[in-house]
Amino acid sequence: MSIEQLAETAQAMVAAGKGIIAIDESTATIAKRFAGVGIENSEENRRRYRELLLTTPNLNQYISGAIMFDETIRQSTSDGVPFAKYMSDNGMIPGIKVDKGTHNLAGFPGEVVTEGLDGLRARLEEYYKLGARFCKWRAVINIGEDIPTGTCIDANSHALARYAALCQEQGLVPMVEPEVIMDGSHDIDECFQVTEVVLRSLFASLVEQNVVLEGTILKASMVVPGTTSGEKVSIEEVAAATLQCLKSTVPAILPGIVFLSGGQSDEDATAHLNAMNQMGPNPWPLSFSYGRAMQAAALKLWSQDLVNNFAAAQKTVFARAKDNGLAALGQWKS
Ligand code: 13P
Repeated sequence: MSIEQLAETAQAMVAAGKGIIAIDESTATIAKRFAGVGIENSEENRRRYRELLLTTPNLNQYISGAIMFDETIRQSTSDGVPFAKYMSDNGMIPGIKVDKGTHNLAGFPGEVVTEGLDGLRARLEEYYKLGARFCKWRAVINIGEDIPTGTCIDANSHALARYAALCQEQGLVPMVEPEVIMDGSHDIDECFQVTEVVLRSLFASLVEQNVVLEGTILKASMVVPGTTSGEKVSIEEVAAATLQCLKSTVPAILPGIVFLSGGQSDEDATAHLNAMNQMGPNPWPLSFSYGRAMQAAALKLWSQDLVNNFAAAQKTVFARAKDNGLAALGQWKS
């Protein structure tokens, strides 16, 4: 696999006015989302729900690709077409989450490190054969009293960089996601400082592990006040702080940055992305890789009638894709 091919895939992931839909909830996480709206967490319901999302009519107008979970990439549409093939046939790039989740970092209470490097090369080979062309690995950085520590940040950056190097060796574009968690009483300045240190550490590790930045996508969290801080900030303040933080840490050669929604409301996630693009031109395309902010409305509607609300829920997915696609161009109007 050449660097050119990796770069081409990465650029297609952030094509103008398009973003990624994250549907890679682990079985435990989708269980929580389903429980929230009273849906039974059976394999068939998970398959049907992912089918609803991926077969939304005209989704490819605004969606360049989707991140799946291990179970999902092995599942098919009701007509028997594997989801990855369905996506490629419809101009969307299949992606796969390959990390094995977070575990307590020994010796560092309140901090976690993401696992999943052991055996990763063989798993990546299989995912490529199953049709995946990009991967995701999520690190989690918590803000609290005396945390994050440098040790936690470096351990997570090291794992992200080892993962990214393995992905590129196997012809897969790594999406590197260091999520600075919104929970907490910290203010926006503290989120800025932590995010800055985390991104500096990440890019230093990527370079150290010979990761080709032209074939890498960053999935970033926005710079926002902690959810229990009580601090009120405007859409423009979040957009400006996030842009400043990214510009001071992320090399311009990166093909693109996509954001996670992290628990923001649908409207905020869209408005923040839109504002950042209106403040451009920026060094990289800025788009979305939202999970909850793409799915929440559709999941709620579908839960009310799994048979009869299928098409209506798809219309909601399309509407969210359109809003976020326009926000990726700075053309969204509330
Ligand atoms: P949210 O947009 O719901 O934060 O999910 C995106 C994601 O994939 C987090 O890893």
